[in-house]
Amino acid sequence: MTISLVTAIDRNNAIGYKNQLLVKLKNDMKYFKQITTSGDHNIVVMGRKTFESIGKPLPQRINIVLTKDKDFRCRGVFVYHSVEEVLKQYKYYGGSKPNLFVIGGETIYRQFMRYADRLYTTLIDHVFEKADTHFPQITSEWKLISEQYNQADENNPYDHYFRIYEKVK
Ligand SMILES: NC(=O)c1ccc[n+]([C@@H]2O[C@H](COP(=O)([O-])OP(=O)(O)OC[C@H]3O[C@@H](n4cnc5c(N)ncnc54)[C@H](OP(=O)(O)O)[C@@H]3O)[C@@H](O)[C@H]2O)c1
Repeated sequence: MTISLVTAIDRNNAIGYKNQLLVKLKNDMKYFKQITTSGDHNIVVMGRKTFESIGKPLPQRINIVLTKDKDFRCRGVFVYHSVEEVLKQYKYYGGSKPNLFVIGGETIYRQFMRYADRLYTTLIDHVFEKADTHFPQITSEWKLISEQYNQADENNPYDHYFRIYEKVK
């Protein structure tokens, strides 16, 4: 199983405000879809709050929602109640090693960071004044392996960088 965290952060590592994203960048939405649908067994893992903010399961992906609520049910998603349960269940899937994409929010990133092999970050070149959730610090145990600069345009209000990090072995 390869575990990747996928996130869009601002210059202060902020990721959200009042259970919404800080900004919508069309380019980032497209990139997110491309990353999380590119393999055969793509699993997206998210917290209950992020799921409610998205509002529906993401198509072409196995959707996992984490909640402590034992009664939580929703069509099209698999519900789990602990990180360990998810890791154990999806180590192998369909006879092969799946790609597990951790897609937020803050509480979920913090718990999966230690297990992650790769980080896909979209760095938004801006500091948002209003933010209440953040991505964990990207420490020196992470090596930047690629960076792509994207200029702001009519569909993307800020310059942004697609950055991929891998855990230093
Ligand atoms: N910029 C980005 O890339 C990005 C991506 C995703 C989300 N976001 C933003 O992040 C914000 C949401 O983040 P958040 O930290 O407030 O919420 P969250 O991580 O999406 O969800 C938190 C909920 O997940 C459940 N949970 C967490 N750990 C668990 C565990 N170990 N076992 C079982 N359930 C667990 C709990 O649900 P219950 O309360 O139901 O028990 C908890 O209240 C929003 O603003 C969203 O838009 C940004």
